[in-house]
Amino acid sequence: MTGIELSDAFVLFGASGDLAAKKIFSALARLESSESLPPKLIGIAKSGWSQDQFRQRIQESLKASSPGTGSPAAESLCRRFDYIDGDYRDAETFHALADHLQNVRAPLFYLAIPPSLFGTVADALHQHKLTRRARLIVEKPFGHDLQSAIALNRLLHSVVPEERLFRIDHYLGKDPVLNLIYFRFANSFLEPIWNNHYVESIQVTMSENFGVTDRGAFYDEVGTIRDVVQNHLLHTLSILTMDPPINASAESNRDEKTKILKAILPISPTSLIRGQYAGYLKEPGVHPHSSTETYAALRTTIETWRWSGVPILIRAGKNLRVSATEILVRFKHPPVSITSEPFPPGSNYLRFRLGPDRVEIGLGARAKRPGPAMVGQPLELLVMRNQRNEEDPYELLLGDAIRGDQGLFTSQEAVEAAWQIVDPILNQTTPVYEYPVGSMGPHEADSLADLPGGWHDPCGKENGGPGPKGFS
Ligand code: BG6
Repeated sequence: MTGIELSDAFVLFGASGDLAAKKIFSALARLESSESLPPKLIGIAKSGWSQDQFRQRIQESLKASSPGTGSPAAESLCRRFDYIDGDYRDAETFHALADHLQNVRAPLFYLAIPPSLFGTVADALHQHKLTRRARLIVEKPFGHDLQSAIALNRLLHSVVPEERLFRIDHYLGKDPVLNLIYFRFANSFLEPIWNNHYVESIQVTMSENFGVTDRGAFYDEVGTIRDVVQNHLLHTLSILTMDPPINASAESNRDEKTKILKAILPISPTSLIRGQYAGYLKEPGVHPHSSTETYAALRTTIETWRWSGVPILIRAGKNLRVSATEILVRFKHPPVSITSEPFPPGSNYLRFRLGPDRVEIGLGARAKRPGPAMVGQPLELLVMRNQRNEEDPYELLLGDAIRGDQGLFTSQEAVEAAWQIVDPILNQTTPVYEYPVGSMGPHEADSLADLPGGWHDPCGKENGGPGPKGFS
C-alpha cells in the first residue's frame, strides 16, 4: 500500500453522466453508510442543473439500489454532496472548485468523463494548483492503442505521479475475480497441477445477451477488443495464470500480473475471428457501414515455463445466447486407461463462473456408473451461489482509492503490456462475420478451437446448454 493519508475531499467530474447514475452514486451511498467517505463531496458537470436538481438525480439513481432512496445514508449523501455546474474549459469552474477546496489537504479527483476531456481537466486542476497532494482516478479506456496509452500516461504523469494515479478496471474489484486469487493461493492441491504438464487448454468467455443499448456511438469507435478484451479479460487471465505473489502487498500482486501479461504472445490476425450481430448497423449512433466487431474470439499462448504450449482461447461478444463470464481450465486425460473405455475429451476441468447472475466453481470429473460394468459418466462437483447485490466493485475500489491503496488498480506497465498483446489486431483488417442475435457468435470461430472438447458452452441447463452434470 502506498500512502496512508485519507483523502479529505471526493470530487466527481462527470456528475451528470451515465456512469455516475448507474454505478457511482450507489457505491457512494454504501460508503456513506459505513462512514467511509471524506468530509467534502463535490460533483461537477455541465448540465445547467441547480443544487436541488443534482440531489434529485442522486435520489433517482438510488431507487433500485441498497441503501436506497430515503435511507439515512442516501439522505446524508444528498445533503453533503455539493454541486458545481460549469464547463471544463472555463476557468470559472475551477475557481469555484478551488473555493470549495480551500481547507482541503488531499483531494481525490475522479474523472468519470470521456477520455478526450482528461487532458483539459487535468491541466486545469494543475494550473489552479489543486494537484499538489491530490489523487486522480481515471476510468478505462486507458488510450486507444499502445501509442495513445503512452501519450495519455505522459499527460497524467505531468499532473500527478504514478503512486497517486488510480486506473479503474471495475473487473478487478469484482468479488468472484478476487476469489480467483484467493482460491488459487489458499488451496495447496491446485499449484502442482497448475501448469503445462497437466493443463490442456484455458478458455475465457464473456458472453452478454444484450446489444450496445444506448452506447452505439461510443461502442462503434471502440469494438469488443478494446472494450473488454484488452482490459477485463486479459487482466482476469493474468490473475488466473500468474505466479504466486511473494507476499500480500499490492506491489507484489501487481508485479506478478504484469509479468504474465508481458509473457502473453501478441495475437496474430490469423488467430482472430471477429463478428458483428445482425442488426448492429441499424443501432442508433452506429455508422451504417461500420466494420467494428461486437464479437471477438482469439487464440494465444503464454510463453513461460509454466504455460508454454497451452492454448489460450478468449471470446467475448454482445447479443449472444446468455450473459455469462466463465473460465474453463481443461486438464489432460490420464496417461493410460484402466478400462476399455476411451477417455472422452474435456472430462476433467475446473470451471469458474464469475457472474453476472451466479457465481460457481465446478470441478469436472468422471465417476463409475452404478452397475457391474466398469463404465463411467461425467459429473461435476459444484459450489454455487447467487451473486449478491451488495458485491459492488465500485464501492470496494473507491474505498481503496480514498485510502490510497493501489492494489486493485492497474499500473501503467500492465496497461502497456496488455496493449502490446492486442496491438497486431486493432486495425480492423480481418473480416467481420455476421452472426444471429441469440447465437454463440459466428461459426467461423470454431476453427480456433480445434482442441479436445472444442469451445466450451457457458450456457447452463436453464439456457439450453449442457450445464453441470450430476451423479446418476
Ligand atoms: C464495460 C464495457 O467495461 O464492462 C461494457 O464497456 C460491458 O460493454 C461491461 O458490458 C461489463 O461489465 P459488467 O460488470 O456489467 O459485467
